[in-house]
Amino acid sequence: MTVVERVLAVIEAHRGDRGALLPILHGIQAEFGYVDQSVIPLVAKELNLSRADVHGVVTFYSDFRSEPAGRVTVQLCRAEACQAVGSERLVTHAETAYGVKVGQTSTDGTVTLTQVFCLGNCALGPAAQVNGRLHGRLDPTRLDGLINAEAEMR
Ligand code: FES
Repeated sequence: MTVVERVLAVIEAHRGDRGALLPILHGIQAEFGYVDQSVIPLVAKELNLSRADVHGVVTFYSDFRSEPAGRVTVQLCRAEACQAVGSERLVTHAETAYGVKVGQTSTDGTVTLTQVFCLGNCALGPAAQVNGRLHGRLDPTRLDGLINAEAEMR
C-alpha cells in the first residue's frame, strides 16, 4: 500500500467517529510512528477542514510527533508529586546523558525524550514510561538501565 492509501485507510476507519480528527491523527501516528507534515493536506481535505486547523491540532497536543521517534521513547513525569521527589533531577540527567532537550530525539536516533504531567503513578515517583512501560521510584542509574535495556532489544 502507498502512504496515501494507508492514510486513507486510517481516515475511513474513523470517518464516522464524533470528533474524528483526533482518532485519525492517533491512528496515523500508530501506523507511521509520527504525523508527517505531508499528510496534513490530505487529512484536511478528507475532513473538510483547513490545513491550519489540522496543523494546529498536531502541534497543540504534545502526544503527536512530527518526526520519527528514537528506538527508545522516554516520557518523564514532571507533575507536582513527581517533582517533589526528584523528577527534575531525572530530566537534567536525561538531557545531559543523551544530549537531547525534552521534545527531541538524540542525533544517533536512540532516545526520544518527552515530558508528561502525571502518569497516575504519583505514590511511586519519580515516574516515567519507557517505550510505553510504566516505571516508578526512578533515579538516574535505574533510568539509564531501562533505556539501555530497551535500546539493546531494538
Ligand atoms: S505526578 Fe508523576 S505520576 Fe502523578
